[in-house]
Amino acid sequence: MNVKISKFAAVLLLFCLVVFFLSEPALAKPKHARPAKVAPLKIGFYAKTCPIAEKIVRIAVNEAVLLNPGIAAGLIRMHFHDCFVRGCDGSVLLDSVLGKPVAEKDNLANNPSLRGFEVIDQAKATIETLCPRTVSCADILAFAARDSALKAGNIWYDVPAGRRDGRVSLSSEVLQELPPPFFNAKQLEDNFKRKGLSLDEMVTLSGAHSIGVSHCSSFSNRLYSFNATHPQDPSLDSAYAAFLKTRCPLPANNVVDPIVSLDIQTPTRLDNKYYTNLQSRRGLLTSDQTLLDSPLTRKLVVNNVKFGNVWAKKFGAAMVRMGSIDVLTGKQGEIRRNCRFVN
Ligand code: HEM
Ligand SMILES: *[C@@H]1O[C@H](CO)[C@@H](O)[C@H](O)[C@H]1NC(C)=O
Repeated sequence: MNVKISKFAAVLLLFCLVVFFLSEPALAKPKHARPAKVAPLKIGFYAKTCPIAEKIVRIAVNEAVLLNPGIAAGLIRMHFHDCFVRGCDGSVLLDSVLGKPVAEKDNLANNPSLRGFEVIDQAKATIETLCPRTVSCADILAFAARDSALKAGNIWYDVPAGRRDGRVSLSSEVLQELPPPFFNAKQLEDNFKRKGLSLDEMVTLSGAHSIGVSHCSSFSNRLYSFNATHPQDPSLDSAYAAFLKTRCPLPANNVVDPIVSLDIQTPTRLDNKYYTNLQSRRGLLTSDQTLLDSPLTRKLVVNNVKFGNVWAKKFGAAMVRMGSIDVLTGKQGEIRRNCRFVN
């Protein structure tokens, strides 16, 4: 009898332990957090199958950036827009096809502002002649973003690769995933958390706005129609606002939408001047200025102002983490022959 009871107790205890350990990690996870999948991506993934792949991408990027420095900004942003919508699967590169739903690239958040597609096409064409059906478009984009950071900011990081290309691209998903420019710090934190990225990584990656441009339409509410009592956003430096108004006259029509540099100090250098702009209330987008104005992120911004080298290191690491969001690997997806079309 005693033996029977203790046997039963032991089995019960074992059962409880199993249940506990199975449920524990789920309990420990913060709500909504879905950590960037611990991706089986690998540095040097093409070392045996296409050792020249990364070099070809670098040459294509260097050439394009030499002709137009803005392309570096375009490629870094393109990688971000790829990764936040259906993971880093090259879905942003797919063209819309007649008779199918409109593709990501033709969403208002991407068209007409996203740039650099020809650079990916060019690198892909060369790689396809040397190593057919081997290197994914998603990886080419990840390499191109890294090479852009090197060119524009002298920032280097190794890119784990082995992504596969997706076969679906839907414009209807874009605005559900990408943060809009009017988000505040808390909303940005939540948006990045959904992708498994931390508050610090969100602030670090926003430093990408130290290069490139924005259309007036992305921030003109701050100049002309902020709210009922303040037509102009009081968090915007008044001299900077006056300058922006000369560049972005009250839109008389929707045909012209001029562009303005995101970083007024060093518009083509990927550096921490973006964060010093915020201290002078010269963040261009609401989503930029909020990082200094919110107590949630203020300290992180101040640290990036003080320690530019630390920020640069963190930027590389955060790009790697962003580059691993919901990737397809192994036998998932495909290796596209042309980055604009599924096979
Ligand atoms: C934190 C939330 C973010 C918001 C709300 C946001 C929003 C925007 C907006 C509205 C523009 C201007 C588009 C236009 O009007 O032409 C822009 C440009 C840009 N964004 Fe972001 N962005 C965010 C995060 C990021 C991240 C994480 C990266 C990359 C790591 C990035 C890289 C860029 C770059 C490089 C540009 C300039 C593009 C060019 O000159 O072609 N952004 N962003
Ligand atoms: C307009 O914005 C300012 C600054 O953020 C704020 O103090 C004010 O209460 C707002 N007014 C309205 C009507 O929302």
